[in-house]
Amino acid sequence: MKLGTIREAVEQLNQGEVVGMPTETVYGLAGRIDLESSIQNIFKIKKRPFFDPLIVHIDSIEMAKTLTNHWNPLSQALAEKFWPGPLTMVLEKSSKVSPMITSGLETVGIRMPSHPLALELIRATQVPLAAPSANRFGRTSPTSANHVISEFPDYEGIVIDGGDCQIGLESTVLSVRFDSSAQLFALSILREGAVLRSHIESALSEYVGRFAFKFIERIDKHLAPGQMKHHYMPEIPLILVEDPDIGPEKILEFAQAQILKMPEVVEGVEIRKPRKFLRAVEIQLPEDPALAARTFYSQLREASQTQDTDILFIRFNKQKNIESWKALQDRLYKAASIILT
Ligand code: TXA
Ligand code: MG
Repeated sequence: MKLGTIREAVEQLNQGEVVGMPTETVYGLAGRIDLESSIQNIFKIKKRPFFDPLIVHIDSIEMAKTLTNHWNPLSQALAEKFWPGPLTMVLEKSSKVSPMITSGLETVGIRMPSHPLALELIRATQVPLAAPSANRFGRTSPTSANHVISEFPDYEGIVIDGGDCQIGLESTVLSVRFDSSAQLFALSILREGAVLRSHIESALSEYVGRFAFKFIERIDKHLAPGQMKHHYMPEIPLILVEDPDIGPEKILEFAQAQILKMPEVVEGVEIRKPRKFLRAVEIQLPEDPALAARTFYSQLREASQTQDTDILFIRFNKQKNIESWKALQDRLYKAASIILT
């Protein structure tokens, strides 16, 4: 892929091609929802399995309403509070949304990104854009235009350069479902992101209708597809170290013993495994959770490209199990090949 302008990107989109779109969370690989070839191209280029549905990006609440049969006062209240921004609402889909986008589900994920170039692109196209994160399936999401280019070197498409992503982790995915037997809206966070449950609760503090958070304990693959255990993986194995007293030598020793026993492919994602582990590089997270989220993916990417590095490790202890660390914690545990307790 190569850098290009909004005008060039719109031309490509109109031809059923896909383009790299900056957003405040991560870069997306965008296609027009009304062109079947675009949607096919997204899955093909990402090597994404068809059971993992796409998020549709809009530039106005009016446009969001065309995608769902169930726009309601609660969605309106959340949209007014969090859009444009890192919240994806999963709602009952309308006939405008093809089943290819939703993997055959009756629901669709809708988000209004806040990056000005994303909004400009949607406005210029005048059609909602489906966009998953612009990485090969299972891999670390891109947070800069250069990351997108390096993910798809062979695809001749345009990436719009919108700089480094401000948030750096994917949006919060919230299912909003009317439960007719309980006569209330059931809310479930399907993926953690920068919009926290406490933010949603305070946004709804003046909402007069009834709602309840429903915690999906054992994630139902049908309700929350794409939530595999292994995801966001860097090119080389990442070890998550919970015990603060284990030093790099022990980590290498452990890696040697454990990783060689692992399969070459986990949930469809290949892991590059050197025969012998000689050098481990530590990734250090900033103390501030927002800053840590912003830099995490690019740190993973850069460290895995460092010459002669065989494995990465990162220290993370469970005390960080507080709300503002939740999204990063989720990605960290899914990106790690091994957890050393
Ligand atoms: O921040 C983001 O959300 C980024 C930017 C580009 O907007 N996009 C993104 O898309 O992360 P993707 O495809 O990598 O992740 C979308 C996830 C799916 O894997 C799935 O878990 C969930 O959103 N999702 C989408 N539609 C859904 C639906 N109808 N029901 C349940 N989950 C859905
Ligand atoms: Mg993704």
